[in-house]
Amino acid sequence: MTPNAPLLGSAWYPEQWPESRWDADLALMEQAHMNVVRIGEFAWSTLEPSEGRYDLDWLDRAITLAGKHHLAVVLGTPTDAPPAWLTTKYPDTLGMNADGHYREHGGRRQFNYASLRYRQLCALIVRQMAQRFGHNPNIIGWQIGNEYTDESFDTATRAQFQHFLQAKYKTLDNLNRQWTTAYWSQTYTAWDQIPMVNTNGNPGLLLEHKHFVTATWRSFQKEQVDVLRAAILPSQFITTNIGGLAWSDNWDHYEMTEDLDLASWDDYVGQGHLQPARNAMLNDFVRGWKRQNFWVMETQPGSVNWAPINNALAPGETRALAWQTIGHGADAVLYWQWRDALNGQEQYHGAIAGPDGKPLPIYDEIEQLGRDLDLTRSALAGTSPHAEVAVLHDYDSRWAIDFQLHTREYDQQQVLVRFYAQLQELVRSVDVIRPITNLDGYKLLVAPSLNVIPQTLADHLMAWVQAGGHLLLGPRSGMKDEYNSLHPQRQPGPLAAALGGRVEQYYALTEPVRIGKDATTDIWAEQLSTTAADTTVDLRYGVANGWLDGRPAMITRAVGRGSISYLGALPDEASMRSLMSTAVHDAHVAASSASLPKDVELCIRSNAERTIAILINHSNAAQQAVLTGRYRSLLPAVSTRPGANTTTVELPMQGVAVLEVSR
Ligand code: GLA
Repeated sequence: MTPNAPLLGSAWYPEQWPESRWDADLALMEQAHMNVVRIGEFAWSTLEPSEGRYDLDWLDRAITLAGKHHLAVVLGTPTDAPPAWLTTKYPDTLGMNADGHYREHGGRRQFNYASLRYRQLCALIVRQMAQRFGHNPNIIGWQIGNEYTDESFDTATRAQFQHFLQAKYKTLDNLNRQWTTAYWSQTYTAWDQIPMVNTNGNPGLLLEHKHFVTATWRSFQKEQVDVLRAAILPSQFITTNIGGLAWSDNWDHYEMTEDLDLASWDDYVGQGHLQPARNAMLNDFVRGWKRQNFWVMETQPGSVNWAPINNALAPGETRALAWQTIGHGADAVLYWQWRDALNGQEQYHGAIAGPDGKPLPIYDEIEQLGRDLDLTRSALAGTSPHAEVAVLHDYDSRWAIDFQLHTREYDQQQVLVRFYAQLQELVRSVDVIRPITNLDGYKLLVAPSLNVIPQTLADHLMAWVQAGGHLLLGPRSGMKDEYNSLHPQRQPGPLAAALGGRVEQYYALTEPVRIGKDATTDIWAEQLSTTAADTTVDLRYGVANGWLDGRPAMITRAVGRGSISYLGALPDEASMRSLMSTAVHDAHVAASSASLPKDVELCIRSNAERTIAILINHSNAAQQAVLTGRYRSLLPAVSTRPGANTTTVELPMQGVAVLEVSR
């Protein structure tokens, strides 16, 4: 039986510890009010000590014991770390790095994701586990592998890439035309001439390699999904934990999560402290993959071991981080990890229990989170964030820009956060979604860096604009088609006619330039022009770099029942704030009425029955927040002071309030 969300738990590796110790570990988890534990994802050499000799009994006993401590289990398939006997006997299962070297046993992720033999060996162990545990009532879900990361550049995988291209392009003439291979004499006369590289290649080829990597990981995953689905209870979910702080660009996360029941990710801070707007955006981004609540399958109990400086989060910050993810739609938070293995590569990572098995100082903070969740779970269950504004994010555009950055300063995550942070402060709830999805219900879409706009996407966006949507395109939009070729018309390509304007020229900036009198833009600036009488100029550059002086920086045109705007710059914070405020106002999006100090975040989760407000103080000083309306605190430690239609909340440093709106 799946406990009600949000759940709390950790990753636990019983295979690393004597069985006599398990009960004490699980009892400590239960005492911290945890209700879920993830196990198994690196246990292949213990589950199958030699080829075909399976030992699943210990895992069965661990699952049963977890159940006795009221801990539901997420079971990992162990395919991220094949045993030494496997890669020794079948060396063709090892992957090759882009530099031509084969990976070796001794770390993890050494396998070749495209190897048919490796996939067959994975299917065998996964089938054993599914048949044994697929009807175990204490298993609530499955995690496939772990943070799919490395592709392979061996010749067999390259042949698969060439077949992939052949299936897509059908003829070499077509491929040669779409990739403009006359350039530098790249023309191919046979499919097996096509190289497979991930840097410095033809932009069309580089983009297709990303598509191939996505398709290959997706089929790797799908084979395990199929093995599991054939044997497990329909109530058991299937997910995978996505790494790279969700932002990794190895493959398309939207496509990869299509075959899963649930999106989950690993939310780490690394060096320094939580950057609230960035982490808010990342959680909304993850929620956007399947457009539903998600799990944080791993997060740090205080610190990690892989950053340049592995500082600890401040007291309270670990709990604040967890509440932030819940505020943005997480239905479970699991720590990595319960207790460090006595040996192995991650001895210095943050953990909840020490090598002696006793609680570390962070334990109390996590236990407090567990108590919070016990008090708020019934109110939060079934709720999620809802937004009228979305920021668009798209992998083809991400890749196309990153292959040819033009300025190393153009960091797409930071560009996205510049727009997102202002929108979040204005309206509180913001979605981050891909553009090819159902856009009904959104009033405003903001698309920074939507570089690749094929005709099909232009048509999709136009239909939404015609019906009343307000689309704001940001810099570098509408430059490329689906083959990563330049559009023959200027930016924004197939949307230029509807916009009644275009980009005359783009400039990578070495220093900020003026917009109007008071504002500045940095990193990137585009000189715009209008081509239709009814296109208005919203902003002009001031005295800038000569080329841009006095030229339009932002233009807008009413289209159908909505509008299209193009902003060719990255305005400073104050100017971005006022632009987003105008955009929100013009699109008739309800602005938030809360009056909050800068470091206090407000997240709203709701369903038809109730609205829950989560206030998080991201600073190390006490803060006061004033909300419009009447709220009731669900955590006894936080008191609220009602005024005439306001509620005042006092938050200690890194403090959290969970409030139910009184209706
Ligand atoms: C990743 C992995 C875990 C662990 C953590 C450490 O997220 O999935 O196995 O290595 O990093 O931060």
